[in-house]
Amino acid sequence: MTRTRCDRTPAWALLQAHYAARGKDFDTRQAFAEDAQRFARFSQHAPHVFVDLSKNRIDAETESMLLALAEQCGLGAHREAMFAGDKINATEGREVWHVLLRTPADAATGSAHEAAELAKVHETLDAMLAFAEKVRADDAITDVVNIGIGGSDLGPQMAVLSLHAFAHPGKRMHFVSNVDGHELAATLARLKPENTLFLIASKTFTTIETMTNAASAKRWFDASGGKNIARHFAALTTNVAAAKDFGIDTTFGFWDWVGGRYSLWSAIGLPIAIAVGAAGFREFLAGAHAMDQHFGTAPLAANAPVRMGLLDVWYRNFHGFSSRSVAPYHSALRRLPAYLQQLEMESNGKRVDASGEALPFGTSPIPWGESGTNGQHAYFQMLHQGTDVVPVEFVAVKKARHTLEGHHDLLLANVLAQAQALMQGKSDTGGHKHFPGNRPSTVLLLDDLTPASLGALIALQEHRVFVSGALWGINSFDQWGVELGKVLAKDIAPRLHNGDASGLDGSTAGLLAMLRS
Ligand code: F6P
Repeated sequence: MTRTRCDRTPAWALLQAHYAARGKDFDTRQAFAEDAQRFARFSQHAPHVFVDLSKNRIDAETESMLLALAEQCGLGAHREAMFAGDKINATEGREVWHVLLRTPADAATGSAHEAAELAKVHETLDAMLAFAEKVRADDAITDVVNIGIGGSDLGPQMAVLSLHAFAHPGKRMHFVSNVDGHELAATLARLKPENTLFLIASKTFTTIETMTNAASAKRWFDASGGKNIARHFAALTTNVAAAKDFGIDTTFGFWDWVGGRYSLWSAIGLPIAIAVGAAGFREFLAGAHAMDQHFGTAPLAANAPVRMGLLDVWYRNFHGFSSRSVAPYHSALRRLPAYLQQLEMESNGKRVDASGEALPFGTSPIPWGESGTNGQHAYFQMLHQGTDVVPVEFVAVKKARHTLEGHHDLLLANVLAQAQALMQGKSDTGGHKHFPGNRPSTVLLLDDLTPASLGALIALQEHRVFVSGALWGINSFDQWGVELGKVLAKDIAPRLHNGDASGLDGSTAGLLAMLRS
């Protein structure tokens, strides 16, 4: 595999010179004035998603230099390696094959191994969707509780909320992730065991939060007179043996080549399938697959995830922008920022390259935000007039799925107005009412929020994260950074009972004593 870290390419040095000469003072208002075709040139049609990049600080020269950087880093080969199932997650010795989860059963495969894995994917998918349909048809099950955390929670939860308009009206979906018992207790208080299906979602089936919540849910089920665990508990995991030991026989499996944050397309997506049905889930996969094909085959210069990922590198490493605000102007997408935080920061929040060498440049930006228009009345002040420049990524949906008069036009008008205000600014000599403008934003436009368009939108985000990670030369598919805290929590938990402070730093020992007093 030929990968070259971005800062070791000739294009990197050229981009640095270009940034110093022109990039740092680039003005989007002037760029629009000079180029009547700018909107067309810097926008990209992709399956189900139209990407308007024109209000960003790029021109044709910058983009062609970034494309040269991508070529010199070996982005195309790295992308092919992912699709072909090479073990590009080297620190865990695993393939990165979530794209296979949305590949049609009859697609041509590159190897016998790929064909065998694809057959397993479809066998499990068919079984899981048959189970989802059975649950949907079972009027006695009114509540479905997903117990899982991280990728076993954020993706399914975000998708179920997003697809509310398509959801089965007779099923209430609950998501319990936090080990904080307030969360599970509040959920259980609203449930009856005979009407509840618990889904224990954990790739490893060892995650302490999920195992603690699952054990408490099972105790509650028994104590509240619940009968027939087989009917009321199912496990979604790669660790079928551990699920069985826990006492669950109904298990839908997946494979170690599915990263947790990329797992909503697998059995972890069962809550989505119960909400929107088998046909809806297949549309969701098809939307993602359409985006995979675009990413896998479109030339780099006309490839939406590539153009977005390159812009991410330009902003992070040349302009020095360390965060990106995500503003979904659709309340059903309100968990999208939280989902993107895991996707991007767990993938690209790395300080060493794939060979373990410390990086001399910044990596993952911080995606953050709220749904619009709420964010406008909270932190948009800072986006318009603060000292830091934060690129904004708006998500807008053309069609409304309600009939309330006037609302949707007003919502869409606000997207356009905010993006316009960020770029245009407003002069005022007094200072306080001065808007500097030239603040970059992107608009991702969907015709409608459907299973297919949501699938495409998520796959677009997965691939843009792949692109920046590939250029930075990092392994975007491990997550060693979450391990240390887990180990220390295990060490501290018994100390809360026995008061043993030996070996602890002064602050931890002091806080421990206060919690015990
Ligand atoms: O936080 C680390 C992590 O491993 C995530 O990558 C993962 O999505 C989450 O924990 C949950 O893991 P599991 O599905 O194995 O319970």
